[in-house]
Amino acid sequence: MFRARQLVTSARELRGSSAQQQPGPVDSTAVAEAPADAPKQSPPHAQAANETSATPDSEAAAELAAEAYRQLMSEVQVIFDAVVKGGRPNAEALMKAVKLAYDSLKTGDSLLTETVRQRSSDYTWALRAANTAVMSMRLGLEIHYDERKSMALGLCELLHDIGMLTIPEEILNSRSLTPQQLKTIRNHPLESKRIVEQYGEGFSWIGDVIVQVHEKHNGSGYPNGLVEDQIHEFARIIGLADTYEAMTHPRGDRKAHVTYNALSEIVDLRNKDYDPRLIKALVHIVSIFPLGSLVKLNNGSIGRVIRTNKLHSARPLIEILIDTHGNRLDTSEFLNLEEEPMIYIVDPGIDESVLKE
Ligand SMILES: [Fe+2]
Repeated sequence: MFRARQLVTSARELRGSSAQQQPGPVDSTAVAEAPADAPKQSPPHAQAANETSATPDSEAAAELAAEAYRQLMSEVQVIFDAVVKGGRPNAEALMKAVKLAYDSLKTGDSLLTETVRQRSSDYTWALRAANTAVMSMRLGLEIHYDERKSMALGLCELLHDIGMLTIPEEILNSRSLTPQQLKTIRNHPLESKRIVEQYGEGFSWIGDVIVQVHEKHNGSGYPNGLVEDQIHEFARIIGLADTYEAMTHPRGDRKAHVTYNALSEIVDLRNKDYDPRLIKALVHIVSIFPLGSLVKLNNGSIGRVIRTNKLHSARPLIEILIDTHGNRLDTSEFLNLEEEPMIYIVDPGIDESVLKE
């Protein structure tokens, strides 16, 4: 059973007055340098206010998001293929894709919607990296990152798990790991660092960040058991986004968590595994009815939350997938609960398996 009351209470507690609240100071000494080829100027439309979800997506924003997602996926795949063959990434092409993703996120949450809607059953490392990069950069924007920091964060995210590409399939697919196999997996942050450092001095700052992605707020992580601010903020953001992404997708021996429950679980882990300030930012982004979750409406239909509503969190935009008669829909139908006062969510914890029945 999902714990609606608990989550709502926790979410409220975490959100507080976040709409007005300024983020805590970011340790400027801990901020990694963006690569020299990273563009320094924001595009004109990126100067817009940072409130991203209150306005409906325009067609142009949706097109930009679709193109940004396509480019991100394709560049990530190129890089991962290169890594497997012992090659090096084309940093310029990657930064171009990251820049487009940044531009899209600055205009609204269409790119987040894109990651939620495109749920491929073929859940590759590249797909996961692209989705997590989008969420990481969105979290960065939530705590007021500028373009340079956002892009540096995106780049770190895309490269943070390349050490996993060197781990044999049988270990990755194993349902019960031997101590030696576990050691191999837990070594992957060091392996990721080793690989990026081979690309030259310009990449060493990335190595220093990505080796810390599996460190935990309370010191229970690896490889060095760092705590709180000892962990680079980029690594804290990527670690949280990566966990959230993993929880909401099927993996190895388990099904995806119901998105609602995944958020609840992460909220429960505040002060243990994750930085509470970042969890607060995540809750604010995915809302009380989390982006991507399947929900049941009082008219009996089932749909996915594809855009949250910051002003009225109980009134998100829903893509209806199963109609009121229980029929799976072939074409997309959208329902904006903001405009349908008589329709409301009765169950926010619907399991993904209903779509296969
Ligand atoms: Fe990892």
